[in-house]
Amino acid sequence: MNDLQSELNLHAAELIAAATCLDKYVLPKNDDEKRLRDMMQSLAAKKKLFNPSVFRPADEDGEEKLYVLSETDESSPALYLVSAQSRVYSPPHDHTTWAIIAPITGGEVNTLFSRKDGLPLEVITTAKIYPGDIIGMNGDDIHDSATFENEATLCLHLYGKPFSAMTERRKFDPQTGAASAYNVKVSKFES
Ligand SMILES: [Fe+2]
Repeated sequence: MNDLQSELNLHAAELIAAATCLDKYVLPKNDDEKRLRDMMQSLAAKKKLFNPSVFRPADEDGEEKLYVLSETDESSPALYLVSAQSRVYSPPHDHTTWAIIAPITGGEVNTLFSRKDGLPLEVITTAKIYPGDIIGMNGDDIHDSATFENEATLCLHLYGKPFSAMTERRKFDPQTGAASAYNVKVSKFES
């Protein structure tokens, strides 16, 4: 393991340690959450730690790769690096745990929705997020995301639990609000 990988592992371990004390579902609006956001922004700004020869970008438009930076057990926070080519769209979905997302390069369009049974989804906010920005969501928040037309992105994703434990995730039809299982098949690439 080289120095950059050791440094990245150290930052990942610090993030997980800071996140472990939080509730699994709701991000608290307090200093613990602010510290976590600051740590995520600080790590996302260290571009030298994310060498493209280690974290290889997805090959084609519409593709994404998921790199595991830290996963311990089913009930502990997990940190991922998501490398997506242009034109990757994730439909409206929830996470069943809190989520913090911080772009490293590129960016994405994120839309938050509200939902009432039997009605179309309603847009709460739409925002383009770039390096330096950060978004946080609770377990029942619904969002979609889209990478830009001509730009690959690299994003840090921190969750209250690992993908393997998000077994109850749902996606939602924007027109009808109907919910269905959202079990995305993620290919994991260990760095
Ligand atoms: Fe998401």
